[in-house]
Amino acid sequence: MNTKYDIGIIGGTGDAGCGLAVRLAKAGHVVTIGSREEQKAKQVENNIIANYNGLKTRGATNQEAATCPIVIVATPWDATIATLRPLKDELKDKTVVSMVNSVIMENKEMHSVIPSSGSMAFEIANLLKSDTVTGAFHHLPAKQLLKLETQLDQDVVIFGDSDQAVEQTLELTNSIKNLKGVYVGSIKLSFAVEAFTSVLVSASIRHKGHASIKLTGIKPK
Ligand SMILES: NC(=O)c1ccc[n+]([C@@H]2O[C@H](COP(=O)([O-])OP(=O)(O)OC[C@H]3O[C@@H](n4cnc5c(N)ncnc54)[C@H](OP(=O)(O)O)[C@@H]3O)[C@@H](O)[C@H]2O)c1
Repeated sequence: MNTKYDIGIIGGTGDAGCGLAVRLAKAGHVVTIGSREEQKAKQVENNIIANYNGLKTRGATNQEAATCPIVIVATPWDATIATLRPLKDELKDKTVVSMVNSVIMENKEMHSVIPSSGSMAFEIANLLKSDTVTGAFHHLPAKQLLKLETQLDQDVVIFGDSDQAVEQTLELTNSIKNLKGVYVGSIKLSFAVEAFTSVLVSASIRHKGHASIKLTGIKPK
């Protein structure tokens, strides 16, 4: 691995945040798993040590996770802004990677809910008044992330407006074995990226699997 990052995950005790935490820790990064309750995060830290061969992460509060130089947001969409509001000064101008999808389940399908600004990434960027918000990991099934024995073989669509934040997001993504980060463009693409999750999850339910994506016809760097 080239760069070893210090990464905080807000909402890191859920399947998505925890799955990413174990993959990133396995790749050599220092990962802080944030929670509303420190005890819950410590429990997750201990579970990871027990179930992943002593793999080290740190369980802490969301406030502590937000002090890391790179922060991943892994909260449910309808709790995201309330969770980040008290942390906004800490997060401003940091690389903040949103994996948040605004979706709801209806009749065994997942449907998108469009936030007023168009996407959760825009909601976060507007709250932080910052152009360093990127998006990544929206389409990775948490159940696969959590099983280290499952070999990943997916592309991760990345968007964002800050060159440095995008570069860091790409590095993080590519440090996870068999993931390929593909930068697609500005945060204006966030609506389409987030909404497409509903297609993948609905396909996974209908066809009983874990749909994900691989872009063909391009050779990204
Ligand atoms: N699940 C997937 O396969 C997947 C894949 C890609 C992206 N995502 C996205 O990643 C995000 C997290 O997904 P998830 O499945 O891990 O969700 P989750 O388990 O429902 O929630 C993640 C964590 O957020 C915190 N949380 C829950 N309700 C909250 C509230 N009302 N206020 C503040 N914090 C709250 C909880 O942590 P504490 O109780 O410890 O605070 C919880 O463990 C979502 O936006 C989802 O769309 C999910």
